Amino acid sequence: MHNENAPKEKSSIFIFLPLAVVGVYLVYLTATIPFKIGMKEGGVEKLLSPPPAPEAVAEEKVYDHRKLMKPSEDLVALGTKVFANNCASCHGAEGLGNGTAGSKLAVKPRNFHSLDNWKQGASTLGMYHTLEKGLGSMPAFPALDPEQRYAVIHYIHAEFMKDLAIPADSEKDIAALPQPGGAVSIKIDSYKETRVPVDFAIRQMLREAENGTPGKM
Ligand code: HEC
Repeated sequence: MHNENAPKEKSSIFIFLPLAVVGVYLVYLTATIPFKIGMKEGGVEKLLSPPPAPEAVAEEKVYDHRKLMKPSEDLVALGTKVFANNCASCHGAEGLGNGTAGSKLAVKPRNFHSLDNWKQGASTLGMYHTLEKGLGSMPAFPALDPEQRYAVIHYIHAEFMKDLAIPADSEKDIAALPQPGGAVSIKIDSYKETRVPVDFAIRQMLREAENGTPGKM
């Protein structure tokens, strides 16, 4: 009896082993199906591919200097906010140059209600140049985009300088402006002509040294 059963036990092992192997393989196949489908649909490829091109994420703003340098109601409205947030602290809410942050400066912030002694020009591009480069203790404003810069200039012209003969920009400076979508920075020539003459500047410095306070220019 015992001897008769021995081969039977042996053969059941031979049947069980291949079945187990096939079973394990089937479980493996089932488990990897989602991964294979994902690969076909670009799951892994998507992960490995470079990020989508910028234009697919957000449309890049195209700035047109020649268009923006012409005042409009929308730009003046935008400029109202830009001025309150960035300029009023020094130049004062009324543009008189008497803001609290400006009161401690040796050279006082410009009073926009006068055309006397502008250093870089009261014209649109002259002021743009000032926002780009700064002037004395006034910082440059790289964080303002071209639209915000022109907007605040139009606001200052319309709000504080409306009764003044604001100088126009030269054809040469306008012609040298970057093409639409081009650079943020501009190159202007004419501001040099409106710079304070050297002899005047020296007299001014002597007067300031005598008085201990900045003289009226
Ligand atoms: C930290 C104080 C401060 C802030 C903020 C400031 N300014 Fe000025 N600004 C000055 C001072 C000071 C002067 C005078 C500099 C000089 O004459 O040397 C000046 C001068 C100017 C001038 C005259 C340039 C010229 O040709 O004489 C313009 C235009 C001007 N600021 C525009 C602005 C605008 C627009 C903003 C806001 C975006 C602004 N400023 C923010 C301090 C400031």
